[in-house]
Amino acid sequence: MKNYKIDRYRPGDLVEIIELFKTTVREVNKQDYTPEQIMAWAPDEVDQKFWARRLNRYTTLVARTDDGIVGFGVLSPNANIEMLYVHKDHQLEKTGTDILYELEKKAREKGMKKLTTQASITASSFFEKMGFKTIAKQKQLLRGVSLEGYSMVKNLEE
Ligand SMILES: CC(C)(COP(=O)(O)OP(=O)(O)OC[C@H]1O[C@@H](n2cnc3c(N)ncnc32)[C@H](O)[C@@H]1OP(=O)(O)O)[C@@H](O)C(=O)NCCC(=O)NCCS
Repeated sequence: MKNYKIDRYRPGDLVEIIELFKTTVREVNKQDYTPEQIMAWAPDEVDQKFWARRLNRYTTLVARTDDGIVGFGVLSPNANIEMLYVHKDHQLEKTGTDILYELEKKAREKGMKKLTTQASITASSFFEKMGFKTIAKQKQLLRGVSLEGYSMVKNLEE
């Protein structure tokens, strides 16, 4: 049941968003990555100032219920979906679809012609369903640990 609304990020969301991110990576993405990779991706200590700057400057949308945040997504000024995370207890309820749809709307409003993303192994099927195409396998180095993923693109003009 959809009881959330999607709106802009507010600075007061930061701590809850970081917590959601850590929990989702640790509980959901662990199906596709080693424990070492998971802890490099979502370490105990994250750089809060870096996160705050990015979420403030980029287009960040948050799906919120009366009980808290159930997902968030981040679009960069160069048309990249930087982040898209849904709460571990609310996977597969279409929250990711709804957030991505709203981010795509914002992208079109800004005149963006295509979107890119660096999808995790876990999220690649989701992004394919949303119309993204894989252009390359990629490896990202995070805190000295290599993580596999996919470089994907979606044409917004079709
Ligand atoms: C990827 C993610 C954001 C998708 O959000 P979601 O709300 O769970 O997905 P939705 O319910 O909107 O799913 C839409 C479709 O994608 C499919 N899908 C979603 N996740 C999937 C997965 N891991 N594997 C296969 N299909 C998946 C759903 O089955 C659904 O298909 P349908 O339309 O045929 O029913 C969410 O699973 C998530 O937080 N993943 C972990 C974090 C992550 O990897 N984020 C990306 C960072 S690169």
